[in-house]
Amino acid sequence: MRACHKKSLGLIVLSGLVLALFYVWSPGTSSGVDIQPRQRSEIHELLERKALNAISDYPDITYNIKEDVACRLARNTCVCLADKESFRLPFANLLFPRVWAHKLDLAFLKKHPDPEGVKQHRAQEYSSFQKRSYNPADVPILAEANSPLQYPTQGVEVRPLKTIIIPGLGLKEKTRPNHTVYLTATQGTFDVAATVGMVSVKGEGEKHMILSSPLLSALNKQLQFVTYTNTVFHPSTAETVQFATEGHQSFFTIKVGHRIIPKLYNSGYQREYNISAIVTIATKTFLRYDKLKELIDSIRQYYPTVTIVIADDNEHPQQVTGPHIEHYIMPFGKGWFAGRNLAVSQVTTKYVLWVDDDFIFTANTKLENMVDILEKTTLDLVGGAVREATGYTATYRHTISVEEGGEEGDCLHFRKGYHHVIEGFPNCVVADAVINFFMGRTYKVQQVGFDPRLARRGHLEFFIDALGYLHIGSCHDVIVNHTSKIHLPWTKTESQKAYEKFRYTSSSSESDLYNEIFYFKNRFKCMTSN
Ligand SMILES: *[C@@H]1O[C@H](CO)[C@@H](O)[C@H](O)[C@H]1NC(C)=O
Ligand SMILES: *[C@@H]1O[C@H](CO)[C@@H](O)[C@H](O)[C@H]1NC(C)=O
Ligand SMILES: *[C@@H]1O[C@H](CO)[C@@H](O)[C@H](O)[C@H]1NC(C)=O
Repeated sequence: MRACHKKSLGLIVLSGLVLALFYVWSPGTSSGVDIQPRQRSEIHELLERKALNAISDYPDITYNIKEDVACRLARNTCVCLADKESFRLPFANLLFPRVWAHKLDLAFLKKHPDPEGVKQHRAQEYSSFQKRSYNPADVPILAEANSPLQYPTQGVEVRPLKTIIIPGLGLKEKTRPNHTVYLTATQGTFDVAATVGMVSVKGEGEKHMILSSPLLSALNKQLQFVTYTNTVFHPSTAETVQFATEGHQSFFTIKVGHRIIPKLYNSGYQREYNISAIVTIATKTFLRYDKLKELIDSIRQYYPTVTIVIADDNEHPQQVTGPHIEHYIMPFGKGWFAGRNLAVSQVTTKYVLWVDDDFIFTANTKLENMVDILEKTTLDLVGGAVREATGYTATYRHTISVEEGGEEGDCLHFRKGYHHVIEGFPNCVVADAVINFFMGRTYKVQQVGFDPRLARRGHLEFFIDALGYLHIGSCHDVIVNHTSKIHLPWTKTESQKAYEKFRYTSSSSESDLYNEIFYFKNRFKCMTSN
């Protein structure tokens, strides 16, 4: 059943490397399929008890709390409080932006016909989300003092249903008549890939294996051949192994998972950045063909062959043609995020640049700078700056943080600002949310996606979904012009008036939708911002 190469095994063990040895298993050897929510095993209860014991040690020793440090620790700070209005001065809000707070639970539940029902439903959905995303590798493990056991603390990985040699197992203790170690697993079995004389092995091919020998060196040699086989299929989880000897226990995890398959873009070798080969410009248009045409013309001045993808949900779509233009017509009024989703889904280049249809490229719209920082750093997305007709330039940088708030939901905090400047790029900073003029790694932006329910407006919602997935930066030296939002009424065209009517009417059903998305989908109870 197995194909095991004795010779290569010898080499592997000799070389003393940490590595994985795979056996080929025929289908059907797995003993189960892990589609049930993962149960907490006895091992995890044991771990929890040990952690609690460690905390309650030395109860009679006194201590003094250092306020300035302790207050930085996350305590129950998920409270929905706005800043008090302290003074009224012109522009005070610009200089010292006040924090406002929005109680999402109140706002959403008071309008809901069945608030208790919706709370319960959210709790159920959240509990099954937690079960699905639970990973045994996240459980804290304490290593005891003076343990004679040697084992790998991290970095051991096995592919689902495959076998590896567990590297680094050993026992260092005084000579005794009989040396014994125990191994216990929950989602796989142990075995030995070679046998060593004077060592007794019990429980080969089982979840619990005991090795013993009167000779410590023989036992340690035998431990070099211990294998672990994952038997419960799950594409991404972890095994917690218990490794013990008389009077000592240790725990370590083996990651179980497929290899992450990369998504690489073959853009051709280039000495200088060839924007047409690596960037696609995506936009969404609605009722503003005049603006769209200005945008396309301005892009063509600087980037004549870059592909432009346009998502269009007009009621009476007009033709938008030209070389390197892809025009996708959507059902009428599908909306803002649906259009972003569609446009971004069609991009085949490494990077996608998002622009609004009322932007104008200028000599300062240097896409090369955005490509450069994405190529040279680990950033996934970088925002630029938008210059209003008044000359004011905005980068719209924000940080986002989430504080745990228990059963009622968590708190979401937006603040103007950024985390830090990026070394080597003095015009750029790291933030959590940026302006709607940004370039991103296409597959990462596609992974996060744009919630198509956000029809009329939506921007920060994308960055909430991206929190923890995308590494985001913002550079103020890549500037696009914004054709004025504020037009004098007598200069407005009919289509501008229609657009504004559509975009800026915020109905109550619309704000209900935003409350629902924050309250239910993202499970927040409160949002604060400044
Ligand atoms: C050593 O101890 C283990 C566990 O107590 C036992 O199973 C094993 O038979 C003993 N071996 C020898 C050689 O005494
Ligand atoms: C840049 O990329 C485009 C599109 O892939 C290609 O047609 C063009 O020849 C490239 N230009 C250079 C200078 O390599
Ligand atoms: C861009 O905006 C600046 C500042 O308002 C203005 O001086 C410049 O002429 C604009 N460029 C274009 C191409 O519209």
